[in-house]
Amino acid sequence: MAKSSSKTHKTIPSKSKNLSSSKLSSSEFSSSDFSSSDFASSELSDEMATPSSDTIDTGLTDLFLDSVKDIYWAENHLVKNLPKMIKAAGSADLQNAFTDHLEVTKTHVARLEEVFELLGEKRQAKKCDAMEGLSIEGEGVIESTIAGTPARDAGLIMAAQKVEHYEIASYGGLAALATKLGNTQAADIFNTTLAEEQDADALLTTIAQSM
Ligand SMILES: [Fe+2]
Ligand SMILES: [Fe+2]
Repeated sequence: MAKSSSKTHKTIPSKSKNLSSSKLSSSEFSSSDFSSSDFASSELSDEMATPSSDTIDTGLTDLFLDSVKDIYWAENHLVKNLPKMIKAAGSADLQNAFTDHLEVTKTHVARLEEVFELLGEKRQAKKCDAMEGLSIEGEGVIESTIAGTPARDAGLIMAAQKVEHYEIASYGGLAALATKLGNTQAADIFNTTLAEEQDADALLTTIAQSM
């Protein structure tokens, strides 16, 4: 059992200090992992039925910190990437929107650094595969369209709105997690950034509608 359990438990976050082999949440397993006889009057089945509040809190804290590191990577990536979008945009309105959002994005990076300080954690970026993919998609739009055409700008707006929607989902989730964990200061910071991402998204819609 010990041998097979180490293989089965590989999805447990490495920082989940309180997750010993005797304290596992039921979500770690699929129903096909064990036959019902494995659980008969075992200590493990009792623990799985009622995960302790410690176990739940540890999972949320790790998820929260991982998500902050993810969006920190994403925002830094955008600071490097937005100048390409500014250069590629044809309409002055779109260029201005991207230019303004580059400055706003720099403040998002600074706010996340504030959150790391609040949490007493060192700044750390964790590669965000989603943001990397969205950026590659944006580069694909530039490669496949002709500069100065409505198609180029429409493609750039679509690419940028996908980025904004990723950020909106991330900051909405982070604000909710921060609130759940009792960190109202961090929740306020995320909500401030969330509102700015929503404004950027709305502005891109307005520009698209005026084309
Ligand atoms: Fe942002
Ligand atoms: Fe943004």
